[in-house]
Amino acid sequence: MSLLGITKGTDLENEVERYLKAESQGVVMYYGLARLAAEKGLDDVADLLIKLAGDEARHAGLYAVLNGHINQDIIAVLTHAAKAETAGREQINALANKARSLGFDEAACEIEVAAEDEGRHGIVLEALLKKHLLVSDK
Ligand SMILES: [Fe+2]
Ligand SMILES: [Fe+2]
Repeated sequence: MSLLGITKGTDLENEVERYLKAESQGVVMYYGLARLAAEKGLDDVADLLIKLAGDEARHAGLYAVLNGHINQDIIAVLTHAAKAETAGREQINALANKARSLGFDEAACEIEVAAEDEGRHGIVLEALLKKHLLVSDK
């Protein structure tokens, strides 16, 4: 049985929603702290915080499903996501250029890495759609 939306409209909805927000904030907090720990050379701390962030992301996904925030049309969602990720590469690179123009060269380099990640996300999602999810359309 799918868990999608089972708490929506029940006495659990508000509590699940609060946890969804808290877990999402936890993802940002732990990944942000992991970056700062790595900057200080505390790689073991950074590694642990990244693992915690992954857990919190998984928890957030659970609560999002429970309260029905996820569209179950996987093909439609991933088709949209693939386009957004691909477009994101150029948009994030534009952000990197702005950062560089303000003299934030190190940040610009890191943002460019993120831009490449977005482009890669688009490519892998498109490949996934072709390989696994759109087979029935052939
Ligand atoms: Fe959690
Ligand atoms: Fe992405």
